[in-house]
Amino acid sequence: MAQGTLESFLRMSIRGMASMAAHDRRSDAIGSRIKKTFHKRQVAEMIGVGLSTLSRHEKESASWPEGTVIGRERVYSLEEIMLMRAILAASPKPRVEPLAWRAPDDPLPVISFASQKGGTGKSLSAAHFAQYLSLTYGMRVGLIDADPQHTLSLYFASPEQRDGVPYRDYETLVDFVGLFMDPETGAPLSTHTPEKLNGCWIDTPWPGIRLIPANIETSEGEIQLARLMQARVQDPPLYMHTKRAIDRWSAAYPPLTDPSTLADGDGVVDPARFADALTETLDVIVIDYQPALTIFQLNNLVASTHLVIPQTMKGFDIATLEAFLVKLLDYIEDVLSTNTALSIGTGEHVILPTIVQRSNDTDLEQIGAMMEACPGAVSPVFYLRSDAVANAADLFQSAYEFEPSAGQRRGLKRFIDNANAVNDALVAKIWPGRERGYAQSWIDENYGEEDA
Ligand SMILES: Nc1ncnc2c1ncn2[C@@H]1O[C@H](COP(=O)(O)OP(=O)(O)OP(=O)(O)O)[C@@H](O)[C@H]1O
Ligand SMILES: [Mg+2]
Repeated sequence: MAQGTLESFLRMSIRGMASMAAHDRRSDAIGSRIKKTFHKRQVAEMIGVGLSTLSRHEKESASWPEGTVIGRERVYSLEEIMLMRAILAASPKPRVEPLAWRAPDDPLPVISFASQKGGTGKSLSAAHFAQYLSLTYGMRVGLIDADPQHTLSLYFASPEQRDGVPYRDYETLVDFVGLFMDPETGAPLSTHTPEKLNGCWIDTPWPGIRLIPANIETSEGEIQLARLMQARVQDPPLYMHTKRAIDRWSAAYPPLTDPSTLADGDGVVDPARFADALTETLDVIVIDYQPALTIFQLNNLVASTHLVIPQTMKGFDIATLEAFLVKLLDYIEDVLSTNTALSIGTGEHVILPTIVQRSNDTDLEQIGAMMEACPGAVSPVFYLRSDAVANAADLFQSAYEFEPSAGQRRGLKRFIDNANAVNDALVAKIWPGRERGYAQSWIDENYGEEDA
């Protein structure tokens, strides 16, 4: 082939794609992303209080949000629901935790959604989990997109981020962990100030959810690590970059605000103080992986307390899962043999079956067999295949924010119930006692005698 053919092929294709992107309905959907609103009944269910509690506070609190009247119903935005939580948290002895925020000495859970196989629902599960924690508990969630494909970033893109390659100009995980080298010394920049680290978390359209986005540069992390390996730079050790950065950031940004102090006796919340409290720290970090186990991804795993492995159920998928587990164990044994003081993954871990077809006996048989062979390792509640969520995911929207057409409404409602059940099962593992019972009701409603 003549020299330059590939170059001209690339140029031509890039031009073509840029013109196609101008008509891409996906970027239109992100651009016009309407902020989801909720009825009072839905708000009460999410916060976990009765309607009468909301009505009482509505009468008594001077800063209770007004909502917007659409048709005959009043609806509330995500910001307004957060404000309600602050007001409820200050009421004497709330029955639930309207803002399940960390106390000063609580550890910071770091939850990884990882698997070797592509397309197993890692990004979808991570996005739904983060949004569920925000919607149900008002948690401050930090998302790390560790995948250069930046699927998770697209789930949280705001209109301003839609033009061109989203998040092109933002700092990524590679910056956060300090893997771009100091041009003077050639050493990694792992001495970023905490303020610089904090600046890597950007706001998303979801109040309380912040994101370290990904773009194609995220793949540079791997290259930089290879360079360090070649130069035998060992401080910090090759697998410790993410953990060091998270630890340094979180030591400088601990939880300070007690949610019960956000509103005064008249139920008035100081908006500036509340906004600060929403970003003063994080209650949990969720990391979405690229489908590969690389040294950069190993860094993220070393930084994690919990591992969720989303996994589809075809025969060869299970073979890939086994390969992933073997390689991971290898890596971890290796790391621990050189660093005996380190503890990795001190929390709970789970294999989460995804995109399961109920009509497909082999899928269910595989799950059953795996549950028997690996007791306690498989989530009892899993994601079923759903056309409704496939439509939503096509627009990088979660089931929690997607506005369905009339024909999609039932399917979407069913997927939301499914997502709530899966997320509730994860909560039960990570924060035992905080679960809402959605997992149990799903099991009661969907599993026959013989599956129980
Ligand atoms: N329960 C489901 N029902 C139907 N489609 C689904 C479901 N879960 C995920 N999908 C679809 O499967 C595809 C892969 O999902 P997702 O991007 O979350 O996987 P992933 O593991 O993050 O992929 P990658 O390995 O490329 O990062 C998406 O197109 C998504 O719409
Ligand atoms: Mg993904």
